Amino acid sequence: MSVDIKKLISQLTLEEKAALCTGETAWTTVPVERLGIPSIWVSDGPHGLRKTPIMAAETSIPATCFPTASAQAATWDVDLVQTIGQALGDECIAQSVDVVLGPGNNMKRTPLCGRNFEYYSEDPFLGGEMAAALINGVQSKGVGTSLKHFATNNQEYQRMTISAEMDERTLREIYLAGFERAVKKGKPWTVMCSYNRLRGTHASQNRYLLTDILKNEWGYEGFIVSDWGAVHDRVAALQAGLDLEMPGPQKFRVQRVVTAVQKGELDLAVLDAAVERILKIVFKAAETPKGKVTLDVDGHHALARKIASEAIVLLKNEGGILPLKNIKRLAVIGKASKEPYFQGGGSSHINPTKVDIPFDELKKLAGSMELLYADGDTMQPGLNQPMIDEAVKVAAQADVALLYIALPPFKESEGIDRPDIDLTDHQVALIKAVSAKQPRCVVILNNGSAVAVGEWINGVAAVLEAWMMGQAGGGAIADVLFGKVNPSGHLSETFPIKLSDTPATINYPGENGKVNYGEGLFIGYRYYDAKAMGVQFPFGYGLSYTTFEFKNLRVSSEKFRDVDGLKVSVDVTNSGAVAGAAVVQLYVHDEKSELVRPVKELKGFAKVMLQPGETRTVNIALDERAFAYYHPRHHQWVTESGAFEILIGKSAGEIVLRHTVQMESTQQRTAMLDRDSTLLDWMNHPRGNEIIKPLIEQAMKNLPADTPIPDWAKDLPMEVVLMWFANQSLTKAPEEMIEDLLALTR
Ligand code: GLC
Repeated sequence: MSVDIKKLISQLTLEEKAALCTGETAWTTVPVERLGIPSIWVSDGPHGLRKTPIMAAETSIPATCFPTASAQAATWDVDLVQTIGQALGDECIAQSVDVVLGPGNNMKRTPLCGRNFEYYSEDPFLGGEMAAALINGVQSKGVGTSLKHFATNNQEYQRMTISAEMDERTLREIYLAGFERAVKKGKPWTVMCSYNRLRGTHASQNRYLLTDILKNEWGYEGFIVSDWGAVHDRVAALQAGLDLEMPGPQKFRVQRVVTAVQKGELDLAVLDAAVERILKIVFKAAETPKGKVTLDVDGHHALARKIASEAIVLLKNEGGILPLKNIKRLAVIGKASKEPYFQGGGSSHINPTKVDIPFDELKKLAGSMELLYADGDTMQPGLNQPMIDEAVKVAAQADVALLYIALPPFKESEGIDRPDIDLTDHQVALIKAVSAKQPRCVVILNNGSAVAVGEWINGVAAVLEAWMMGQAGGGAIADVLFGKVNPSGHLSETFPIKLSDTPATINYPGENGKVNYGEGLFIGYRYYDAKAMGVQFPFGYGLSYTTFEFKNLRVSSEKFRDVDGLKVSVDVTNSGAVAGAAVVQLYVHDEKSELVRPVKELKGFAKVMLQPGETRTVNIALDERAFAYYHPRHHQWVTESGAFEILIGKSAGEIVLRHTVQMESTQQRTAMLDRDSTLLDWMNHPRGNEIIKPLIEQAMKNLPADTPIPDWAKDLPMEVVLMWFANQSLTKAPEEMIEDLLALTR
């Protein structure tokens, strides 16, 4: 049904237009019945639906709670994440929801961020790929998404007021790159602006972010919605490019917009542009019939179980204790095995359709094995020694002890940051006590982001990272423990040895209203590489019940142009005895660049399932962007000709294949000259060189004809060159002269 949006806009009154740009309720937009404009319903997200009739109501309508983003990313499987999106889309249709408020794709700058469970990675390429996959999945069903939180919302501390301060490269290459990839590959119907400030201006009225970059540079065509309560000046927000304010109703703000237009403070064209973007999505949503299908509870539960099992990262497996075999008595310790901790707190909290109880799921697969149980840990603060003693006793009676250790809600949730990256004191004491008595001990972790494990990991035989695993996580853990599923998860964030090793430590959480991203580009593995610092488990790390060999790295060309890109192929062999999936990670190292760059950056990956003995070739295509970095002086992504190393890794800490290629840049660009530009900059600038040539000749007229300009002189700012070597011919002060010369270059 094609609707003439422009015609509709011409028929709307000013009051109706202003009303359309603010929610009617916390979750719906304003309808205009007389013109046949429907309302749309938006709902959280991002890893399941939280449809509630009123703001912040606890009991939302039952929906499938899928593994959260940090678990999804650990699958390194974009196709699988796309299926989550498809299932979410189906659930939206069943519940008559038009837009799901997700995915969240903020970078994991510090493991302390309380919402890291809702975010994908410390790496913008992986995060962008995952977000795009989820968006494509949901939108393939004719339902919209809301890519959030745009942008630089990387902590919960003072999230509504703090100003994120960073240089342009850091912003572009780290904190926007994942959003850019998701916007261009996923085309989300909506983008949600964040609460915080960027460089002093709230995201909700930050024109540079919302219009200059998102709408104009990236060509974004959907609408921008505020985070709930993120708008502070509705007129300024509209002028910056923020189309829809949520939640509604906001009658005073609607009136403020009307008055601003009437007084000429706000150009009606700006309001019309916002209305146009909103109406396009409203009518797009209306094309998908809703509410006429029922939720596929069991099918989605099974999907949630598959994803959770693929997200599980096998961090340690000493002596091949896993998968469990030849065991008569199995001790199951931890309340989390009876009351699973599978999602986080806050706006993403879902009322699940059903929940797997880990203990029960073990029993279903345990066969003749006898299961013993002890509470061990009830996720409460404080140390409970009797509970530990009981657990140790039970563990000692068994052949193997399982410890279900879940990070308690007071340690991780939206709205607050984590106080540390540690488990509770009780949990650490419990693990140490049990493993001292029963070294055949397996720890199963449920947490949303990196935790420190150094205090106890040497004493246990195996560790599974099961994340915030969603409602079917209990079954997924059992599948992996008993070998029904061979774990194939890989870390999407580094597990540091201790918090003080992490890159943001010096500057987090900020003070006096600002947080300085002083580590710049160097977050996550980029930082640990630059510092050559050891970590507990590197980005991309994950073990398997089988082994893999990567060999025969080859490229489509030894020399190539940036615009042609490069194809990379690797043969992967399952050299073990059981089927399993390998994750091939492709990093790029720029051997020489004008500006500093991280040692390596993830630019491609692929997951491949292999039977024992099977070999398959994995092909990864690298485009121009895979070799580029953002140059602040050129205000663009630049490629520089030269040698690049293609690195194939099993993790960021285990590069197994390398190959150097030559890339030729075809970019015709000239640096923007400015007051700091050196003589060399001017000589390399076509127009600049023309301008200064006579000045140089004049300055060197008494020297032998072929006298070279010394390097030290080339490094001088042009203004100093004028002052020292051309002052006789100056007709005005050097600081004025340089401005005249600069004007000639623009
Ligand atoms: C919250 C969150 C956002 C959520 C929105 C609606 O404060 O920041 O992620 O979608 O409000 O609940």
